[in-house]
Amino acid sequence: MKPKIYATLPISADVEKYLSEYCELRKWTGEDRISRNLLLEELKDVDGLLTSGIRIDEDLLNNAPKLKVVSNVSVGFNNFNVEAMKKFNVIGTNTPYVLDETVADLTFALMLASARRIAELDRLVKDGNWNPTKDDQLFFGIDVHSSTLGIIGMGRIGEAVARRAKFGFDMDVLYYNRNRKPGAEEKYGAEYCDLDSLLKRSDFIVMLTPLTPETEHLIGEREFKLMRNSAFFINVSRGKTVDEQALIRALENKEIYGAGLDVFQKEPVEKDNPLIKMPNVVTVPHIGSATKKTRDAMMMRAAQNIVSVLTGKGALDSVY
Ligand code: DGY
Repeated sequence: MKPKIYATLPISADVEKYLSEYCELRKWTGEDRISRNLLLEELKDVDGLLTSGIRIDEDLLNNAPKLKVVSNVSVGFNNFNVEAMKKFNVIGTNTPYVLDETVADLTFALMLASARRIAELDRLVKDGNWNPTKDDQLFFGIDVHSSTLGIIGMGRIGEAVARRAKFGFDMDVLYYNRNRKPGAEEKYGAEYCDLDSLLKRSDFIVMLTPLTPETEHLIGEREFKLMRNSAFFINVSRGKTVDEQALIRALENKEIYGAGLDVFQKEPVEKDNPLIKMPNVVTVPHIGSATKKTRDAMMMRAAQNIVSVLTGKGALDSVY
């Protein structure tokens, strides 16, 4: 008998065909995210769960007595309660590698858009407000090329950003990470720094660290005060790596110049969040990996992870 799996997100015909060879597949087809109660009901007899962002905790695991693997279609896995999953002998997997370059592209898009005020000036043109003015300084931005980039979290995506910075934009690259990355130092001239020095010296500060108990609110009021008044803060990791209220105050008090945000404390971002009203903040709806090619590759990798575990070969990308 084939193992049973449940998918909480839409899957392409290719992936469905692949999964169906090895598993009996059921999937959520509703427009909104599946409700918790329905998910718990669906999990009663399944061996594998293919999902993204759904909280995997003791309560869920207690309701899924046959569950052996949860395959996340994302590189981040902060939705996993790792201790609980270990206790219940459930393997957790993610999708590294296939999204590195796409997330690095988005990181640069946010740097360029915030420094050159692309969203703000796009709105100005489309609103018919491109009036001749003696003062064309009104449209001035800040150069990205030849500036200093500080990367917090030098994993694979960090290295892909460093490569663009060094060879595409002639930037000096600083980084802060749990461990030194001699490869990145050699290839991109990246300089290892303590966090405070990185914050003081960087024109662009890019958050790429995974969200863990150690990195939650890694950047708060004290850290924003160390940044240059001209600095741009870019977050493509998780909203909670930053104290969002401190970020709002830093922008309001002009302690930093601008920000580019893919992620927020609460997603979807709340309508009254001051960040979405600020012209010097570029916001996008958590789209780091959102290209068709990359999302297809992530979905296939996630499917391969689930099949690999359920056919006894072990996970390709186990997170613990
Ligand atoms: C991930 O996969 O964790 C990223 O947030 C992609 O955007």
